[in-house]
Amino acid sequence: MAIRYDDFVKRPNEELEYTPEQIEELMKCKEDVHYFAIKYIKIVTLDHGEVSFDPYEYQVTTIDLLHKNRFFVGLWARQSGKTTVVSIYALWYAIFHPLKNVGIVSNKETSAKRILDTMKRMYERLPVWLKPGVTEYQKTSVHFDNGSNLIISATTADAFRGWPMNLVICDEFAFVPGNQAEEFWAANYPTLSSSKTSKLIIISTPNGMFNIFHRIWTQAQVGDNEFKPFKVIWDQVPGRDEAWASTEVANMGLQAFNQEYACKFLGSTNTVIHPECLRTLMSMDKEPIFYDLQDRLRLWEKPKEGAWYILGCDPAKGTGENASGIQILKINSVNPIDLDQIGVFEDNLTDVYEFSHIINKLSYYFNNAFIMCENNGEGAAVIAELWWHFENENLVNSGSKKKSLGIRSQKDTKPKAVLLMKKVIEDGSIRLRDKETIEQLGSFIEEKNKFFGKDKPDDLVSALYWGTYVFMMNIIDEEFKFKKSKMDTNDAWGILSDIEDDIDDWSWLTKSTIWDQ
Ligand SMILES: Nc1ncnc2c1ncn2[C@@H]1O[C@H](COP(=O)(O)OP(=O)(O)OP(=O)(O)O)[C@@H](O)[C@H]1O
Ligand SMILES: [Mg+2]
Repeated sequence: MAIRYDDFVKRPNEELEYTPEQIEELMKCKEDVHYFAIKYIKIVTLDHGEVSFDPYEYQVTTIDLLHKNRFFVGLWARQSGKTTVVSIYALWYAIFHPLKNVGIVSNKETSAKRILDTMKRMYERLPVWLKPGVTEYQKTSVHFDNGSNLIISATTADAFRGWPMNLVICDEFAFVPGNQAEEFWAANYPTLSSSKTSKLIIISTPNGMFNIFHRIWTQAQVGDNEFKPFKVIWDQVPGRDEAWASTEVANMGLQAFNQEYACKFLGSTNTVIHPECLRTLMSMDKEPIFYDLQDRLRLWEKPKEGAWYILGCDPAKGTGENASGIQILKINSVNPIDLDQIGVFEDNLTDVYEFSHIINKLSYYFNNAFIMCENNGEGAAVIAELWWHFENENLVNSGSKKKSLGIRSQKDTKPKAVLLMKKVIEDGSIRLRDKETIEQLGSFIEEKNKFFGKDKPDDLVSALYWGTYVFMMNIIDEEFKFKKSKMDTNDAWGILSDIEDDIDDWSWLTKSTIWDQ
């Protein structure tokens, strides 16, 4: 579409006679983004219409931080002027730095377009001698005649494909759906961070604990990444006092207020694992020490002589949907339970035969580890392979009477397994290291007596609860010997046990844990 040039949108490469004062102003604006913003930027406010930008104190600090740091992460309250301040910085950057590409992404393309509209409006209100001419002026991009470009997109993997970016702004990053954010990050972060000068600005209101934004923010706080963190909560915004807060709390509820205005990262309200415990777990993950099986296996420790291990297994079809998962747990002690997560297998393209082969191998590799494997669905085929083909006697079977191989996930077994896992994790009786397992726990919820991963897979969680279930079956004693009474010696069923309904008093599972104190 042809550009309508007028008093607001300047033609490219126009010859202008600059007065000495204008040249001096141009120099000042180029050197001092604060000066440019305060003197020349107009914003539109709800109450007063168009006004000159008079930055709040924290906006001044932010402009400084944006300028001095290559990586910035802002955790800001809703309606605190975050989009405004990053837009002003991006506009200044493009106007006064030739040949730069500035990319702006938001959770939705419509929000990104709105940001570009705001920036165009700011540009249009600059004096003619201060602004560059434009060669393109579209809904998703503006090209200046100094060779710099503003480009907007939704936050997707191919957001800026083909454009080497000098400055990228991610607005409302916590609201980008999980997979999309991961893909954007994987596609763009490596190039941005490998350049020596390009900048990345991330800013958002929080939206739960298990997303990249939360990860970047928490790591930035403890200096585990290069991002400069800066937080702005509701009471720093002029005009918001206790009376305002009480009204908002009454209108929107305390939980939403805490998230949107006090910038708290809230867990889902009904996660199986207590939110405080999840918060602690989030900072416990460690990079694996080895990868194997074409990166499907992550390991933190090799087998140790004399050590005892459990493999918790959750088989899937291997056709690209759900992943098959294995948790490798080292048993340090049985009473009290003390475990280390030392390995994780995860893949959605491993077929049931290869999966049983892998379980079999891992079981031998880890000193004849117990195999706790769910037998529902494709699990039956995996278990049959392990038992009949590989004749692996470390397979734990849940009922000698019914001759059922493996563990059946059903009304009584699954809740017990989940609750035991909850207790073990919340007690600190297991040291989890795998980031993906911890993230899956963050979305693993209970709803109407059902346990499942909300908007996230739960295959590693189920491998984990089947792994810990061995303790519920009461089949190993404190010397890691199988309890005779629990083994069916008349049969060749390997490690057999019955789950008796009155086996235990379950009340301890629901007792409050340290996380409730
Ligand atoms: N320094 C300022 N003085 C007065 N008004 C401001 C200032 N900064 C921003 N505003 C106005 O406050 C409103 C909210 O600003 P903005 O959209 O930038 O906030 P936000 O934090 O991105 O909001 P949201 O959470 O809705 O995305 C806008 O109307 C904007 O013009
Ligand atoms: Mg905004």
